[in-house]
Amino acid sequence: MYGLVNQAIEDLIRRNHGDEVWDAVKRKAGVDVEVFVSMEAYPDAVSYSLVGAASELLGAPAAELLEAFGEHWTLYTAQKGYGDLLRTGGSTFKGFMQNLHNLHTHVALSFPHLTPPSFWCTDVTDSSMTLHYQSTREGLGPMVVGLVRGLGRMFDTEVSITPTRTRADGADHDTFLLTFAAKTPA
Ligand code: HEM
Repeated sequence: MYGLVNQAIEDLIRRNHGDEVWDAVKRKAGVDVEVFVSMEAYPDAVSYSLVGAASELLGAPAAELLEAFGEHWTLYTAQKGYGDLLRTGGSTFKGFMQNLHNLHTHVALSFPHLTPPSFWCTDVTDSSMTLHYQSTREGLGPMVVGLVRGLGRMFDTEVSITPTRTRADGADHDTFLLTFAAKTPA
C-alpha cells in the first residue's frame, strides 16, 4: 500500500504510545524503513506486519488497532492535503457514503498504482443503509468500522455500525448495517 497508509499508522502509534514504542514496533515487524514516502507503493506485507507487531507489543487485538486506524485516517488525510478531496465526497454523511466509490476513483488520479477498495450502498432510507465493502485485501473490515465512525464525526452525525456479513464467515464481501442521525443542538 502507498506510504501514506504506513505514515498514518506511524502517526497514530507515535501519538498514542510514543516514539520508543514506534521504534520497537518497526523492529519487531522487521521493517527497515527510516522514513515512509507517501507517494511510494510498498508491499502490503509492510502495513500488515506493522499492525501485527503493534498488536503483540501493545497486547491489543489487531481488529482494535485497525478500527482506531480507520478512525484516524479521515483526520490524517485531511491534514495531509486531501481535505478538499474529502469535501468533494458530499456535504452530508449519507451523501458521502453513497459517493464513496467515486472518491477512490478521484484518489486514483493522484495515486496511479492504487488498488482501491469498492464500496456501494443498498436499502438506503433517511436514517439507515447497508454498506457493502469489497477488497482484494483480507481482514480490513474493522478498518471500515473505524472509518465510518470518523466520517460520522466529520459530519457531526451520530452513527452506529454493525457488521452483518464478513468474508471470514464465507461471504464474498463484507456488509455493515449503518444507522445515522444528524446531531441536533441541545
Ligand atoms: C481523500 C481521502 C482519502 C485518500 C487520499 C485515500 C487514499 C487511500 C490509499 C492511498 C489507500 C491505499 C491503497 C493502495 O495503496 O493500494 C487507501 C486504502 C483504503 N481506503 Fe482510502 N483514501 C481516502 C479516503 C477514504 C475513506 C473516506 C474511506 C472510507 C471508507 C476509505 C477506505 C479505504 C480502505 C478500506 C482502504 C484499504 C484498502 C483495501 O480495502 O483494499 N478511504 N486509501
